[in-house]
Amino acid sequence: MAPIIEMRNITKSYRGVPAVKNVDFTLEKGEIHALLGENGAGKSTLTKIIAGVVEASSGEMKHQGQTVSYGTPFEALSHGIAMVFQETSLVPSMTVAQNIYLGEEKFLNRLRGIYISAQQFLQSLNFTVDPTATVATLGAAKRQMVEIARAVHHKADVIIFDEPTATLTPEEKRHFFALMRRLKSSGVSIIFITHALEEALAHATRISILRDGELVASGKASEFDRDKVVRAMVGRNLTNEIYNRKRTAETIRKRGAQVLSVRDISMGSMVRNTSFSIFERQITGIFGLIGSGRTETFKVVSGINKRDFLRGGEIEFDGRPVRYTVPAEAVRDGIVYVTEDRKLEGFFETMSIAENFYSGVLAAGLEKHSIISFREMRAIAADWSKRLDVKAINSNARVVELSGGNQQKVVIGKGLAQKPRLVIFDEPTRGVDVGAIAEIHQFINQLADDGLAVVVISSYLPEIMNLSDRILVCRQGRVVEEVSPLEASEEKIMFAAVH
Ligand SMILES: Nc1ncnc2c1ncn2[C@@H]1O[C@H](COP(=O)(O)OP(=O)(O)OP(=O)(O)O)[C@@H](O)[C@H]1O
Ligand SMILES: [Mg+2]
Repeated sequence: MAPIIEMRNITKSYRGVPAVKNVDFTLEKGEIHALLGENGAGKSTLTKIIAGVVEASSGEMKHQGQTVSYGTPFEALSHGIAMVFQETSLVPSMTVAQNIYLGEEKFLNRLRGIYISAQQFLQSLNFTVDPTATVATLGAAKRQMVEIARAVHHKADVIIFDEPTATLTPEEKRHFFALMRRLKSSGVSIIFITHALEEALAHATRISILRDGELVASGKASEFDRDKVVRAMVGRNLTNEIYNRKRTAETIRKRGAQVLSVRDISMGSMVRNTSFSIFERQITGIFGLIGSGRTETFKVVSGINKRDFLRGGEIEFDGRPVRYTVPAEAVRDGIVYVTEDRKLEGFFETMSIAENFYSGVLAAGLEKHSIISFREMRAIAADWSKRLDVKAINSNARVVELSGGNQQKVVIGKGLAQKPRLVIFDEPTRGVDVGAIAEIHQFINQLADDGLAVVVISSYLPEIMNLSDRILVCRQGRVVEEVSPLEASEEKIMFAAVH
């Protein structure tokens, strides 16, 4: 049987620099084809060509045996190709149901009807999302579910999932993989992009690997193991396997001075009478399932969630009672929150990398001159790009032009350019490849060694176990337990998080 998608010698260049180079790629009917590679390897670019988002510079693509070139995502969708984007493409001001049925105007005229049918549809996918909620009010995970629901709703026979599981909880992931298997057995062909290599090995039928825009390996999933995948991705063996490392008594830092003390604060239904302290020279890992209030708690602390919603309790920074009403106040005191949601609140996407770093400097009032100095801006950008190894053509590149993982590095750099004393990382390595995770972890460790108070919120247990000097577990809006990484096991932490 002919492949459903067949790409021959595909190249895509941006300003003369190839993002995808002479790639041959085929997608067979009814397969789950994992597409792997480091940040910036070209995964999103290659699949966007299939989905009509990006036009190839050269090469040929066949869809069901016909040579095609779809000019818009809508055209591709009308031929049965849907893509669930790495960065959300939903309309924030519309409801969940309206987004799912977008483009079907006859539906939109009957609001009540679409809420009922959206409710049933979402339930059939095992997604707990309120169809009447406005997308802007949803967290990253729920938005991802809406994206997936929309693709399934369009009955596409080719679905591209670009990092669909990065924001999902373990439970939601199980539902997602069950859904993927159902789609596969009903004959849908799937391209599955992920940085979680175990997921690819467990669920894909075939694996292809890109490195620097070139296809370096392709074959049956059963022919691969983790080591082989990593070697193909990075072109070498990764020596210090980050997630096999465990904290020992020697590697745990002694706490410095207490910088933050939170007593008995509540906010809406998400934060309930929570109390905890944060110390200098230490990494405090915060673990909790989605909905446990971990993000909301730290958004209150850093002035991002409005004070009006905050009820009771006390927050002290440096022994001084504080109540920030806007993030700028917190930033000037030295508290920086590095968001989990880079698309919505992480950066100014149409500005350059340099301008983004500099906006961090400006926010903290650290600029050296009263008018913007381009020389200072360039120097700061060069410094941070080097420290975080941001891969881009140059610092004039706009952030939208970066691959997902490199965008994440810009968000981190912009936060750190504010010279915080307390830095709160929310899911710092989401969408970041295996090699870059190690770099970012090393970087975060260095911050604590340099004396900063560091908080890492993560739903990825190995990350928490690997980084934390102490672990706080959140459940139902409050910190319920402190666990020493010396006594911690994944089971123990998970148990505290759900019981
Ligand atoms: N619109 C654009 N303009 C300029 N360069 C771009 C654009 N889109 C992507 N690139 C570049 O193309 C290369 C491949 O990017 P791509 O987004 O395909 O990577 P990726 O494999 O999806 O990475 P990630 O895992 O980080 O999402 C990168 O170097 C990126 O900077
Ligand atoms: Mg990508």
